[in-house]
Amino acid sequence: MAPCAVRPAVPDDLETLVALLRELFALEPDFRFDPARQRRGLALLLEDRLRRVALVAERDGAVVGMVTGQLVVSTSEGGGSVLVEDMVVIGSARRQGIGRLLLRAVETWGRGRGATRLQLLADRENEAALRFYERLGWSGTRLVCLRRGGV
Ligand SMILES: CC(C)(COP(=O)(O)OP(=O)(O)OC[C@H]1O[C@@H](n2cnc3c(N)ncnc32)[C@H](O)[C@@H]1OP(=O)(O)O)[C@@H](O)C(=O)NCCC(=O)NCCS
Repeated sequence: MAPCAVRPAVPDDLETLVALLRELFALEPDFRFDPARQRRGLALLLEDRLRRVALVAERDGAVVGMVTGQLVVSTSEGGGSVLVEDMVVIGSARRQGIGRLLLRAVETWGRGRGATRLQLLADRENEAALRFYERLGWSGTRLVCLRRGGV
């Protein structure tokens, strides 16, 4: 199998990333796929290279997965924490270590910016993802996610 490399996404990747988000959002009932919004969100991520990152995994010149990270300040940590989102590997490339590679890369990115923690949200019924994170040393917390739209 050809090796897989992780690199920061560039504007030319946008449409590929939007397609990956379509695959991800189809699994998460909390989100509705809207390509214009996802394109806009991704463009915002690419604008701020200090505090945000979109990483892609590439094999044989094709993007096979992505993850994004955003640095937030955590008062509990007394420092930075990375909000990890948009973790997805194309269906045909799963269980080959690519998700692990992407998470490790976003962790390295965060550590290089002073972060001491990673955090993310996952759908409570996404068993595959929950097992994946658990395998990589993540654990659940007592916190629940609340949100308010339309602001
Ligand atoms: C979750 C996802 C990103 C994992 O990526 P992946 O490239 O398949 O994962 P990896 O091959 O790097 O697996 C890393 C470890 O997790 C384990 N793992 C991965 N998927 C698993 C599954 N479905 N069930 C149990 N363990 C799993 C692997 O066995 C591996 O451990 P090992 O190396 O000790 O065997 C991928 O399945 C995916 O894109 N799913 C759809 C999108 C999604 O749900 N994203 C998460 C949103 S929160």
